[in-house]
Amino acid sequence: MEEEAFPALLALLFLLLSLHFITKIIVKTTRKHQNLPPGSLGWPIVGETLEFMRCGGEGNHERFIRERMEKYDWRVFKTSMLGEAMIVFCGPAGNKLLFSNENKNVQVWWPSSVRKLLRSSLVTKVGSEAKTMKRLLTTFLNPEALKNYLSKMDAIAHTHIHTHWQGKEQVLVYPTVKKYTFELACSLFASIEDSIHISKLSSQFDEFLKGVISFPVNFPGSRFHCAMRAANAIRQELKLIIKKRRVDLEDKSASPTQDLLSHLLLTSDTTGRFLTEMEIIDNILLLLFAGHDTSRSVISSIFKYLGQFPQVYQQVLQEQLEISEGKEAGQLLQWEDIQKMKYSWNVASEVLRLSPPVTGSYREALTNFTYADYTIPKGWKLLWSTGSSHKDPTLFSNPENFDASRFEGAGPTPFSFVPFGGGPRMCLGQEFARLEILVFMHNIVKRFTWELLIPDEKFQYDPMLKPAKGLPIRLQPLHIYPTTSFASHG
Ligand code: HEM
Ligand SMILES: *[C@@H]1O[C@H](CO)[C@@H](O)[C@H](O)[C@H]1NC(C)=O
Repeated sequence: MEEEAFPALLALLFLLLSLHFITKIIVKTTRKHQNLPPGSLGWPIVGETLEFMRCGGEGNHERFIRERMEKYDWRVFKTSMLGEAMIVFCGPAGNKLLFSNENKNVQVWWPSSVRKLLRSSLVTKVGSEAKTMKRLLTTFLNPEALKNYLSKMDAIAHTHIHTHWQGKEQVLVYPTVKKYTFELACSLFASIEDSIHISKLSSQFDEFLKGVISFPVNFPGSRFHCAMRAANAIRQELKLIIKKRRVDLEDKSASPTQDLLSHLLLTSDTTGRFLTEMEIIDNILLLLFAGHDTSRSVISSIFKYLGQFPQVYQQVLQEQLEISEGKEAGQLLQWEDIQKMKYSWNVASEVLRLSPPVTGSYREALTNFTYADYTIPKGWKLLWSTGSSHKDPTLFSNPENFDASRFEGAGPTPFSFVPFGGGPRMCLGQEFARLEILVFMHNIVKRFTWELLIPDEKFQYDPMLKPAKGLPIRLQPLHIYPTTSFASHG
């Protein structure tokens, strides 16, 4: 790595950072009259980051959480990570507290690398400003609006499968699925459809992603520096696209509802304020970022579990074939079709329980408050995590078993199944993700069965969950489905 060319600079930086973080943590933890939750702050600066990352590297991030719950307190414990003293809230009660107190005792918080890269987007906003911005973004991302983009998603899935899966004997799932989720996001958010343009943006996003969770030190060669450079290049692209779109909307060669970008340019909040150009750019950057690696991780995990459990695959296939049978050949998926995919969504939910792509997220204490007999001091960073509840045997019987029927009927206990977070800061893309995942499942199970080439391939968090070797599979075409229907869309 280029970093090694700067040993002196690095040492100095390390020293400065150490001093900064040590003072911060000492000041925080030596305040008097406090009954903090139990736990260990680990080593100076790094805290327990390395231990946390080791568990993530094994794809077993819940081990970090559950070991500490057992050792200290099942409800809440403290630790230190990313240079921040942190309190981890556990189980449905802990999740509920963080999710239902936004703007009261707590508010959303992201590490400074995230805030610096995503500048004026929703993730850096709090309070009423966040509410307004969220409402604007939701005019495009709510189920009612997304209905209209379903056939576009389906058409993109057709073309994608035709180009990247059809006729192949082996496929490396993880990089291939990215082409689908990224292309879909580019198309629906900003009508970027030219493949050269998309692959350029895609490699810029790879740079961006590597630096999102990193020490925010901005010198040539650092991960954060590369990410900043990539983000700026993407912003320039988006700027040109917006300029052209304004003209096209004016002379009616672009439609006001064609994508997220048109929505954001033409929709104002209740006071008549429009988002500024910078805010639009940063939000599209945010959604492109938040919206493709997450779904790609889930779809990859779906390949893994369906490959491991043929009876689950068979049931998904049966449901999807019934849907196809009710349609005319070549007709694209409709909203009613999606509503019928109950079993398939239960399968995807079980995948989200066992292999959540995002392990949790942060809040910050806005006031001193007490929780479970402990003091939670103002300013401390708080963390909720899927790991404290998704594998809890009292909430999910035989938690290690794959069992989609858990989601039938009333489903899991409230606040125990939280792959999308909860409360006012819950994932904005849940419906978008549900649609793109189901559309993909529909199209893939009807055309192929597959075999995992590395049956026990490990998945690891970096920072999102992904297969260590890219999940190579062997494909076998299924001949029940007439391949001619490709022709009409491909
Ligand atoms: C299966 C796929 C996905 C998963 C598991 C996921 C998970 C999450 C989680 C855990 C959070 C934090 C919630 C919290 O702090 O309470 C989040 C936030 C967010 N997600 Fe997703 N996400 C997914 C897909 C998407 C997609 C497709 C989009 C965009 C279309 C998206 C956009 C966002 C945004 C904008 C936020 C920030 C919301 C805010 O700060 O108010 N996500 N997501
Ligand atoms: C929070 O508690 C600390 C320590 O007890 C105290 O010094 C501080 O003034 C309190 N802050 C607020 C906003 O109540």
